[in-house]
Amino acid sequence: MRPMSQVAGLIAAALCLVAVPALADEPGPGGSKPPVPVSGEQVYTMVCQSCHMADGKGGVGAGSIPSLANNPKLKIAAYPISMVVNGRGAMPWFSDTLSAKQTAEVLTYVRTHFGNAYAKPVTEADVALIPAVPRTASH
Ligand code: HEC
Repeated sequence: MRPMSQVAGLIAAALCLVAVPALADEPGPGGSKPPVPVSGEQVYTMVCQSCHMADGKGGVGAGSIPSLANNPKLKIAAYPISMVVNGRGAMPWFSDTLSAKQTAEVLTYVRTHFGNAYAKPVTEADVALIPAVPRTASH
């Protein structure tokens, strides 16, 4: 929402509160935020799926996206952790957008779905072992 309309909205809301006190608990205008992904599946759907696809198989279009399905490279957790934390080539880095917990959750999800059966969960401590390359500009 643009600032002016926000101000107008706040005034309207304030007037509304005076007129109808019972609505005081309603969220104000501009109060909606994008949902924050928590579970590994949510992170995958909101962050990874656009490239790696809903079935994890990636694809070939403007660029080539590797398949995460039946992928033996996921076995050693440090490899996919490093991919998500630091990226590589056309794979973006997520050290500045995903928490260690979100990274751990999404990799636990990927390593136990799409035909992968690496049951050992990825933990926040595992993620913390992979240093994030310092970035000067965000992508
Ligand atoms: C903008 C598109 C894009 C997004 C979003 C993206 N990836 Fe990737 N991913 C790539 C590309 C491209 C590569 C190949 C990079 C290379 O090898 O140069 C890749 C590679 C990988 C690899 C290594 C696969 C292999 O076989 O070497 C893993 C693991 C991976 N991505 C996981 C994820 C996860 C998990 C997410 C979500 C947190 C994610 N990616 C989000 C594009 C993306």
